[in-house]
Amino acid sequence: MPASPARPARCSAMNATVSEMPPAMDLSCTSRDGADEGERSKRIRYLRSPDDTAGATKAISTLRWTGRCSQNWSIYGAASGRSRGQHEQAPGWPTLSDRPRPGNSSGPGPRAVARPIAPRVWRWDSSSVNVESGLGSQVESFREARRNLEASVLPLATSLDGRQFSFQASLHGLQFQAGGYAVLDDGGTPRLGQVITLDLDQLSAEVTLPTHPGGAPENRTQVPIRYAHGEGTILEGDAAPFHDVLVRAAAGAEVQAWLERSARPNAKLRLGDLTLAAGVPCLADAGGFDRHTFLCGQSGSGKTYSLGVILERLLIETDLRLVILDPNSDFVRLGKVRGAADPVLAKRYQEAARGVAVYSADAPGKRRLRLHAAEIDPATQAAALRLDPIADREEYAALADLLASQSPPTLEALSGSDHPQARRLGLRVRNLGIDRFTVWAPGETGSVLDAVHDQDARCVVIDLGSLPTREEQSLTAGAVLGDLWRRRQERRPVLIVIDEAHNVCPADPPDQLVAQAAEHAIRIAAEGRKFGLYLLVATQRPQKIAGNVLSQADNLVLMRLNSLADTAFTQAAFSFVPPSLIDRAVTFHQGEALIAGKISPQPALLRFGTRITEEGGADVPATWAAARSEQIR
Ligand SMILES: Nc1ncnc2c1ncn2[C@@H]1O[C@H](COP(=O)(O)OP(=O)(O)O)[C@@H](O)[C@H]1O
Ligand SMILES: [Mg+2]
Repeated sequence: MPASPARPARCSAMNATVSEMPPAMDLSCTSRDGADEGERSKRIRYLRSPDDTAGATKAISTLRWTGRCSQNWSIYGAASGRSRGQHEQAPGWPTLSDRPRPGNSSGPGPRAVARPIAPRVWRWDSSSVNVESGLGSQVESFREARRNLEASVLPLATSLDGRQFSFQASLHGLQFQAGGYAVLDDGGTPRLGQVITLDLDQLSAEVTLPTHPGGAPENRTQVPIRYAHGEGTILEGDAAPFHDVLVRAAAGAEVQAWLERSARPNAKLRLGDLTLAAGVPCLADAGGFDRHTFLCGQSGSGKTYSLGVILERLLIETDLRLVILDPNSDFVRLGKVRGAADPVLAKRYQEAARGVAVYSADAPGKRRLRLHAAEIDPATQAAALRLDPIADREEYAALADLLASQSPPTLEALSGSDHPQARRLGLRVRNLGIDRFTVWAPGETGSVLDAVHDQDARCVVIDLGSLPTREEQSLTAGAVLGDLWRRRQERRPVLIVIDEAHNVCPADPPDQLVAQAAEHAIRIAAEGRKFGLYLLVATQRPQKIAGNVLSQADNLVLMRLNSLADTAFTQAAFSFVPPSLIDRAVTFHQGEALIAGKISPQPALLRFGTRITEEGGADVPATWAAARSEQIR
C-alpha cells in the first residue's frame, strides 16, 4: 500500500536503506573517467523520468530486487513523480561550516567539510507541487544537502612516510586522474606527486533537514557524501610525513620543471607528449634501452607506428645499432623521410638514416635478403628438415656429419650419394621444398648475417614480410637470432627489435623451426643483456609470447588492450608498474600508451608523436565505409 503522503520523508526506505539511497535517488550519474558506470547508471536511468510510472515502477522493482529499496519507498517512488522542486540557488543549509585547520581534524576518514558555500535560496514551483509535495521537498532538501556537502570536500592529502600519499577531493570539477600529476602544498616548498589510484568513495554524515520548504531544520537523516579518494607517489620533496596538505592538479610547467631537474645525463628520446600534463613532452631515457623492452597493444592500437617513433629517435639521438625483424614490411622505408616532416628533424634524421640498410627478398644485389645454409646453426637446419634427434636419429646424425664437413653438400650431391641416410636427407629437402626457398643464395657471396654484424650498418631492417613462406621467415629469424647469440662474446651493443614477436617467440611454438627461433630469443632474453644484446619485442597480447622472454623485460610500453584478462596478465608480469595504471590501457585511444621501467623511471601516460619517416604498411583505408550521398534513413 502507498505510504502516507503526509509523512513521506519518514518512509521506511529512508530509514532502512539510507546509505544505499544516493544511487537510487540521484538523477545523474557520476563517473570518474567518463566511462559507463554499468549497473548503477541503469538504476539511475530508470529514475530519470519520474513522471513515467511504469519506468519508476520498474526502477523500484530493480532497486527492491537488489535490496536497495523497501516496500514503502517503492510505492512512493512510483506514485510521486512530480514532487520536484526547482532550485535556483541553494539554501544556506546544511554546510558543515568552516574549513578545518590542517592538523586539527577530527573524526575518521576524509572530512566532508570546508569551503564556505554562497548562501542560496530554495524556491518551489507551486504548479508542480502535488499532495505529496511535503515528501518532495524533503527529497529535494536531501539532494541539495548532499550537493552542498559534496561540493565542500576539500582537496587534502596526507602522507605517513613522505613517499606516498592519500588524498581526497570533491567530485565537482575533479581535476585529478590516475597517472596525472599533483602539487601538494603545505605553504612551504610544494611537493610534486603522481596520482596512482583514484576511486569513488562514500561516507555518511548526519544532517538535520527541514520538513517543509523554507522551514526550520527538524528531521535528522544520514546524507551519503560521494567524493574522490586516491593514492599517489611523491616524486620530489623532502621525505617528511605531512597531514592535511592542500593538493591540486599540477600545471604542465611544474611537471616539465621536475622532469628537467630529475633527468639523468643520458640522451632523451622525444616520443610524444604526456597525456596528463598539457604541453609537456614525453622524453624517454635512451640509456634504459640497455634492458629488454616489451611493447604490447591490441591490433590497431598503434604499436608498429609507435615502434617506428622509438626507432627513429634512437637513430637520431644515440649510437645504438638496431637489427629489426620486420614481419610485415613495416620498416622498409625507415630510411625515407616524409615530405611533411619537421625540416630540422628531417635534416638530423637524414644523417642518421644513411646507416639504414633494408634487406628484402626482392631487392637487387647486395640488399637481397639471403642466407647460406652453411651459416645456419645445425639445430635450426635440423628443425627446417623436421628432424627429431631421437625419432630420426640416423638422418639427424648424417646431417650433423655433413654439416661438420665444412662444405654442406648440394641437393644433387645428397640425392646421388652412396650413403642411404644422405639420400634420405635429399628426399626430405625436396619433399619439404627447402631447396626452393628464395632465401638461399647459391653462387652469391655474403648474406644478411654479414650485415647483422657489420658495425658500419647502423640499422639493419630484415624484411621478413618479403619472404614468401612462413618457414622461410622462421628460418631467417632463427638464423639471425642464433648468429647474434653465437657471436655474443664480441660484446657489441645492439637492439634486436622483433615486431609481431608472437610469430618468432610464441608461448606455444607451432613447429620445430619456430621453437628453435624462440629458443634463441629466450636465451638472449635471459642472458643477452650482459653481452649487449637487448630485445625490444612487440606483440598484441602478453600471453602470446614466450613467458621466459616476457619475464625478462624491464621496460614496458603498453598501448590499448581490450581484454581484462590481458591487463591482469600484464599486471602480473610487470609488478613494478602500479596495476591501476595498467588498468587504464582499456581506455587508451590509438597512439596512447603507458611507459614504465628504466626508460621512464616514473610511469608516464603519453600520446606518441608523429613519425619522421614513411610507414611501410599503413592500414588499408576504410573508404568502403564512406557515407553515401543518398542513404536510407
Ligand atoms: N600515433 C599515430 N598517429 C597517426 N596514425 C597512427 C598512430 N598510431 C597508429 N596510427 C595509424 O593507425 C594504423 C594502425 O597502426 P599500427 O601501428 O599498424 O597498429 P598495430 O601495429 O598496433 O596493429 C596505421 O594505419 C597507422 O598509420
Ligand atoms: Mg603492427
